[in-house]
Amino acid sequence: MPTDTNAAQDWLTTNESASIDRLMDWLRIPSVSTDPAFDKDCRAAAQWASDHLTKSGFTSRLLPTGDPEDSGKPIVLATNEPDPDYNGPHILFYGHYDVQPADPLELWESPPFEPVRKPAEGAIGERIVARGACDDKGQVMMFLEAMRALSETTGKPAAGAKYTVLLEGEEESGSVNLERFVEKHKDTLSQCDVCVISDTGMLGRGKPAITYGVRGLAYIEATLIAPDQDLHSGLWGGKVPNPINELTKVLAQLWDSDRKVTIPNFYDGVRELTNEEREAWKNLGVNEAEALKGIGLPPEASVGESGFSFIEREWARPTCDINGIIAGYTGHGAKTVIPSKATAKVSFRLVDDQDHEQIAKNAFKWFEDRTPPGCTWEFINHGGGAPATCATDSPILNAARRAIAEATGTEPAMIKSGGSIPVAGLLKSTMNLETIFMGFGLEDDRVHSPNEKFELDCFRSGAKSHAAFAAALWSVTGS
Ligand code: BES
Ligand code: MN
Ligand code: MN
Repeated sequence: MPTDTNAAQDWLTTNESASIDRLMDWLRIPSVSTDPAFDKDCRAAAQWASDHLTKSGFTSRLLPTGDPEDSGKPIVLATNEPDPDYNGPHILFYGHYDVQPADPLELWESPPFEPVRKPAEGAIGERIVARGACDDKGQVMMFLEAMRALSETTGKPAAGAKYTVLLEGEEESGSVNLERFVEKHKDTLSQCDVCVISDTGMLGRGKPAITYGVRGLAYIEATLIAPDQDLHSGLWGGKVPNPINELTKVLAQLWDSDRKVTIPNFYDGVRELTNEEREAWKNLGVNEAEALKGIGLPPEASVGESGFSFIEREWARPTCDINGIIAGYTGHGAKTVIPSKATAKVSFRLVDDQDHEQIAKNAFKWFEDRTPPGCTWEFINHGGGAPATCATDSPILNAARRAIAEATGTEPAMIKSGGSIPVAGLLKSTMNLETIFMGFGLEDDRVHSPNEKFELDCFRSGAKSHAAFAAALWSVTGS
C-alpha cells in the first residue's frame, strides 16, 4: 500500500519539461470535432492519448461511436489492473480530446496548432499558448502525466488504485453520440464509484478549487419566415412584416423587467439557494469589480436577474442568452432590403432540477404563441445536457480535497461553475454516478477564443493533485 507519492511528485518536477513537450506534441494535432475536415486528426489525437495510457500500464483501446457504427469520433477507453490489496473506490476519469475551431484565425498571435511556451509577463505566468491548451488537452495531460509518474515510480499503473479512463472526441460539438455509447457500455461504466473531470477552473491564481456543480444546457434555433423573397424596403416596408423587426420584438419579450425569463414553467424544479450556500459563497471573496475590469467593463455592468448576486447568477440561477442572429444585409455600406427570413440561436443555462428537454419544448411553444401575423416559424433543437451537482461531504470528495491541499499547499475552495459538461448529467441520470470536478483553469485562459493558454503553475498543481489523489484513494473505504 503506498503511504505517499513523494517519488511521483519528484518525478513530475524533474520531468516537467518533457511532460510539457509531450503536451505540445498532442496540441499540434488539430482535433476540431465540429468540422469533418479534421476527422483524421481527431482519430490521431485519440490514438495519441491511448498510446500515452498504454505506456503507463493501462489497457487502452479506441472504440467506435455513432450510428451507423464508426460515423462518430472514437472514444478512448482504458483501464488498469489494481493492486490485489486495493479496496478503495473505482474512479472514472473523463476528459475530451477534441477542441473548438480556432477561428477567427487573424486574432491569434501565434498559429493555434503550433503551440508555444511563453515566459511570464506581468500577472500572467509562464504558459503554453495553443487551441486546447486548457480546454481540455492541457487538463487531461495533467492526469496523463500523473499516471505516467505513478507507474514510473511505483512500478504499478495508477499506484495500484483502480481507474477507468474515458476520453471523448465530441464534447465541443454537442456530445451527440455519447448517450448511445454510455448506454452500450453501461455495465463497464457502472462499476465505477465516481467520475472525476478536469475541465473546469480554479477560484483564481494560486487558489485551487473543487467544482461541485455545473449548469445544464438547452440550445435551440428559431427562424421566422415572412415573404417568400427579399423585398425593396421602400416599396414594401410598413406594408408587410419584416422578419427582423418581428423576430427582435419577440426576442425582447424573453425577459421581464427583473430580467427573469418569461417562458411559462421555466423555473419549474429550480432548487432555491440555501442561506448556508449564500454565506459560503460570500466568504469566497470573489472580486466582482475586478472580474468585470478584466473584460473591459465598469462596475455598473453587473446586470442580471434581480435579487441575486454576481456569483449566484452564474452558479445557482438559470439564464437565457441569444448567441447569434442571422438576417438581412450585413455586407459593406447600405442596402435597403426586407429579408425573407431571420434566425436566432438561443440557449438556456440550467440548474438542478430543471429538465432540459422540457425547456426546449416550452420555448418552441412560447415562440409559436407569439407568431407575428402572416409569418411562420422553423425550429431546430440543438440538444443540450442536464445540470449536475455532487455531494460535498462524500469520502471521495474529501480525498480529492486532501490531495489538492497536499499537492498545492492550499486548501481547495468549494465552488460551482456556470459552464456545462453534458457527460456529468448523463452519468447521473443513467447510472446515478456523481461527478467531482477537479479543474485548474483560470478565468483569463481564453478558452474557445483566440490565444487560448494554460499556465504552467496550473499544469503543475493539477498533475501533482492527480498523483496525490490516486494515493489518497487507498484510504477511502466503504464507497
Ligand atoms: N470545459 C468546458 C466547460 C467549462 C469551462 C465548465 C469552464 C466550467 C468552466 C466545456 O468544454 C464546454 O465548452 N462546454 C460547453 C458545452 C457544450 C454542450 C458545447 C459549454 O459550456 O458551452
Ligand atoms: Mn472542456
Ligand atoms: Mn469547451
